[in-house]
Amino acid sequence: MTATFPDDPFLTGWMAPFGAECDAPDLIIDGELPSDLVGTYYRNGPDPLHPPRKGDVYHWFDGDGMIQCFNIADGRVSWRNRWVRSEKFKAERKAGESLFGVFNNPMTGDPSVANVEYNTANTHIIQHHGKLLALMEGALPTEIEHLSLDTLGTIDFDGQIDGPVTAHPKFDNDTGEMIFFGYSVGGPGSKTLRYNVCDKNGKLTKNVSFEAPFSAMVHDFFVTETHAIFPIFPLTTSMERAMTGGPMLAWEPDKGTHFGVIPRDGSAEDVRWFNMEARFMFHMMNAWTDGSKLHADVTGSNATQFAPKLDGNMADVSDGTSPTFRRWTMDLADNTNSISEELLDDMACEFPRIDDRLSTRAYRHGYAVGSGGNGSLNFNTLIHYDTSKPQRKTYDLGDSYMVGEPVFAPRVGGTDEGDGYVIMLAYHQPTDKSELMVFQASAIDDGPIATAKVPVRIPAGFHGSWVAPAAA
Ligand SMILES: [Fe+2]
Repeated sequence: MTATFPDDPFLTGWMAPFGAECDAPDLIIDGELPSDLVGTYYRNGPDPLHPPRKGDVYHWFDGDGMIQCFNIADGRVSWRNRWVRSEKFKAERKAGESLFGVFNNPMTGDPSVANVEYNTANTHIIQHHGKLLALMEGALPTEIEHLSLDTLGTIDFDGQIDGPVTAHPKFDNDTGEMIFFGYSVGGPGSKTLRYNVCDKNGKLTKNVSFEAPFSAMVHDFFVTETHAIFPIFPLTTSMERAMTGGPMLAWEPDKGTHFGVIPRDGSAEDVRWFNMEARFMFHMMNAWTDGSKLHADVTGSNATQFAPKLDGNMADVSDGTSPTFRRWTMDLADNTNSISEELLDDMACEFPRIDDRLSTRAYRHGYAVGSGGNGSLNFNTLIHYDTSKPQRKTYDLGDSYMVGEPVFAPRVGGTDEGDGYVIMLAYHQPTDKSELMVFQASAIDDGPIATAKVPVRIPAGFHGSWVAPAAA
């Protein structure tokens, strides 16, 4: 009954579905894991259970969420992976085939799931108020049990939220708050944004809706000690366009970039818009308040190839489609409402992360992956930026590897920023297997101090979190 997967770049090589759930109790390790690295690295990513429906084309962003869990203690590593049992997953598992259209396209979906929640839960996995939450930007968070990875169900903040929640919430470590948002909350193509805060106990304390200048895909946002900032890039969405044969998503650089700035304790009337010419980013490194200025460090670009322009053509590399490390600044004391840009580095890079204890505050150390010497977006290089200099260190794994997002893990007992380790999943093409690499965060250019060998290939994924053991 189950069909074979089509020949598709998102379904082959490193991205090919793995299709199994495993428990590996004690991975083989090259090198030596430090005794002061104790905790769990969780990572989320797509692993489609079934091929797309007839007439559909698969997209990497649409696969069923699969959680990877590496527990590290006493110099040893165990690995477990489990799919998220979303309502989508359960319905399709029962049917033995895909029932939802790609990105929940109603034109290709089966009518039997018209009222079933579309939630791939495939983009990020974070912890807040003691709950482990798998996230995707189009639906509610899904709670996952920490050890078994069993799916416990979606959370709706006591029934107060029924729509999309970003996969990139922010955390204020002083207040314990999680700050998040939803976009297209009025349905596909809607320009309504929803700004939310929940307190350290998971209680929703803010629920504010406001309108963006136009409907756009909003994958990430910025939060500082004082403000939340919603970036609207001209990657527009339009149901009307889709219904008349055009693309649902389009790159419209003439619309420019607009940042909606709201005091963290503010309301919809307080939103102030800042502007600059067309820019794009998937991810930010960090953001902070500096007097009257708000800074955001990002992996941003001048254009994107994520969707076609209105004429059907793609932006090309000469338009500046490669993301690079840059800083965007708004000055609340400047009545021009302009956003300034400072280019911090010229190496193509993505998946920026920090020592999360500095989230929403001024920081020094950032980590990302880049293309090293090969100039492509096949990332094989770990990067450490010291923004105080600025300076970058790199470790290039060579052309036989491709790497995913780096995540910082604090050293047990360490309190200084950057005192710890960087953890990264790498894919070794010649053996078709994955490796969990651990770097000393202060010396990533020395290469990994330990590498745990995964006995299989873990498909390319998106985002993850380091979760330290709960304090006794
Ligand atoms: Fe992301």
